Amino acid sequence: MNVQLKTNDLEAFWMPFTANRQFKAAPRLFSKAEGLYYFTPDGRRVIDGTSGLWCVNAGHCRPRIVAAIKEQAETLDFAGTFQMGHVKAFEAASRLVNVAPEGFNHVFFTNSGSESVETALKMALAYHRAKGNASKVRLIGRERGYHGVNFGGMSVGGMVNNRKWFGALVAGVDHLRHTHDLSRNAFSKGEPEHGAELADDLERLVALHDASTIAAVIVEPVACSTGVLIPPKGYLKRLEAICRKHDILLIADEVITAFGRLGTAFGSDYFGIKPDIITTAKGVTNGTIPMGAVFASDKVFAAFQTGPDWAIDFFHGYTYSGHPIAAAAAIGTLDTYVEEGLLTRVSGLASYWEERLHALREMPYVIDIRNIGLIGAIEFEPLPDLPTKRAYDRFVRAFEKGLLVRTTGDIMALSPPLIISKSQIDDLFDILTDVLKTTP
Ligand SMILES: Cc1ncc(COP(=O)(O)O)c(C=O)c1O
Repeated sequence: MNVQLKTNDLEAFWMPFTANRQFKAAPRLFSKAEGLYYFTPDGRRVIDGTSGLWCVNAGHCRPRIVAAIKEQAETLDFAGTFQMGHVKAFEAASRLVNVAPEGFNHVFFTNSGSESVETALKMALAYHRAKGNASKVRLIGRERGYHGVNFGGMSVGGMVNNRKWFGALVAGVDHLRHTHDLSRNAFSKGEPEHGAELADDLERLVALHDASTIAAVIVEPVACSTGVLIPPKGYLKRLEAICRKHDILLIADEVITAFGRLGTAFGSDYFGIKPDIITTAKGVTNGTIPMGAVFASDKVFAAFQTGPDWAIDFFHGYTYSGHPIAAAAAIGTLDTYVEEGLLTRVSGLASYWEERLHALREMPYVIDIRNIGLIGAIEFEPLPDLPTKRAYDRFVRAFEKGLLVRTTGDIMALSPPLIISKSQIDDLFDILTDVLKTTP
């Protein structure tokens, strides 16, 4: 028999990516949210400095999105999309391709960033097979990359704690070196000057494995979950050129950088690259209903359309691919983004954000500050023998003082909703300055 728990007991929920015992001894809970703010059960207001988990780009509980979800739940709760369809999924896909980079006219729906990554990796493998290049089976990721928690994403990912517990992972995967180099690039504003040549690491892997065995390279345009690693100037274009040269597909994992985070609709627009596949999730529904969207370029989609028309063209999909309520949420979200100009709003805010962020440079233990679009990161000198504690202590103190930040290792990441005003940016940094000054 199960232990009988009170309904408000914290014990039953095994929380993800959490120190469960520590959390439950001193929980941090929200019960409400509106716009830029969360509210705790005792009514305390907390600035959402992280857009939830990098997903609530338009701010919380936005009326258009709420109304779309409510209406859809009352009209058509579920309909599958295997050999059947429903109108909202088609409408959402058409609306999404309208904001996607040129040449991306097809969307495959998933339920999360992790599933978008698995979908993209499978799409890349199947693409080469469909083109008659069945020996192209290797997948290349990058050290310190984060591509979710399923087996493909974990394997191409490069964060040791996310990998070491889980066996030998997917075979045939290799990694580019990461681009983080504080010795040359500390306190860079925007894209760092040094390191474009690190893209040539792909040539090293081609020399090792041969291009005839490599299907795809997957990278985040900005590697956010690992601690905001911003690509050096020219790096992504150079990587793209090497991919083209060797007929290797480039997958841009834009789960965070899509939908306005950098001041352009997609990160690929910002960096001027043309990947073959783009993965998204999070901001596609403003975090309200789980949904991911994988954008296939015309070239990739066309490769799947050469068999008989009665044959299934991609043996892949999820029960909830294009779920009606998620599709409605995506449409309500796009309406909000477009009406409020949120896909480009950050371009007018980024320099103010940068200025306030870099003013923290002289705070104790700060060894780097970096920023791009409406993303910021502060890296702290780790405490001897206690890695992660310095950042964690500042995260807890910030929460107590009314600001939600996110930490990974000894790095603090900031990514507020794109609706934030200049005076709210001031509020955020006033709290943070106080926290950094006073936390031992
Ligand atoms: C670049 C990237 N890919 C994939 C994922 C995984 O997304 P999810 O947690 O929705 O599975 C994330 C999540 O942060 C991400 O940042």
